[in-house]
Amino acid sequence: MKYDPETALARIRAADRIVVGQLGQTLDGRVATVTGESLYINGREALAHLHHMRASVDALIVGAGTVALDNPRMTVRLADGKTPLRVVLDPNGRVPVKSQCFHDDAGPVLVIHAEGMTPLSDLPPSVEILTLAPREDGTICPHHVIDALVQRGCPRVLIEGGPRTLSLAVEGGIVDELHIMVAPMLMGSGKRGFTLPPIEKLSDAISPASKTQIFDDGDVLFICDLRGQRGAVIGFPDSAGRQAL
Ligand SMILES: NC(=O)c1ccc[n+]([C@@H]2O[C@H](COP(=O)([O-])OP(=O)(O)OC[C@H]3O[C@@H](n4cnc5c(N)ncnc54)[C@H](OP(=O)(O)O)[C@@H]3O)[C@@H](O)[C@H]2O)c1
Repeated sequence: MKYDPETALARIRAADRIVVGQLGQTLDGRVATVTGESLYINGREALAHLHHMRASVDALIVGAGTVALDNPRMTVRLADGKTPLRVVLDPNGRVPVKSQCFHDDAGPVLVIHAEGMTPLSDLPPSVEILTLAPREDGTICPHHVIDALVQRGCPRVLIEGGPRTLSLAVEGGIVDELHIMVAPMLMGSGKRGFTLPPIEKLSDAISPASKTQIFDDGDVLFICDLRGQRGAVIGFPDSAGRQAL
């Protein structure tokens, strides 16, 4: 089916509470070159879809790696609507304080640190810091991140990347819907989109019900329903099942 924003965004807009993940990748599953270049794997229409997604949620999350490397704005520019709360998941306080999202006056920003780490300092007053307890491996449980956002009045959340942040979220079973934009491009090397715990049997793979939409400039959008897949992701393969979108 040809890309239709109304259909592609319908469930996000209608949901009282939803977590959506997005990644733009090549045919061979890469999201950035070996040097970290990812702008732009996908075309202009896919970028506009991302902006429509931003405008449809209450908060968007990006990981420290993406902010450190790409210095993204994370604002709504190619769609009507408001820039949501921008959340930077930076457990170790390593994101540069001069990152443009902290200083652009485009709306509030929340930085999430791990308890016990030195927080970023000298941030403008529009940037709030939240500290959450880390797990034994140093990561922050994605459920705790989403719970904190819901408590702040942000029940609809977009996880915009990068790959590590989205992989941890999928592994944690918090992602309801995935929007994967595949570009007709082969990179042959570079950063992989998803890294999940290894499986031996194909029956343990995540194989969600999905719909595809085709952009005029050649990208293909996979909209995947992960809700029936949580069992497999968190290690209970018996409870996995396909679910109609
Ligand atoms: N094609 C796309 O759609 C797309 C989208 C976004 C980014 N990218 C590309 O992806 C590359 C960056 O990849 P990346 O995997 O490093 O980026 P990332 O996912 O943005 O950042 C990963 C880092 O964020 C922190 N983090 C995320 N989730 C966490 C959790 N649950 N608990 C604790 N810490 C958490 C960790 O920081 P620490 O390392 O400090 O522990 C983690 O290493 C860049 O080249 C960027 O251009 C591509």
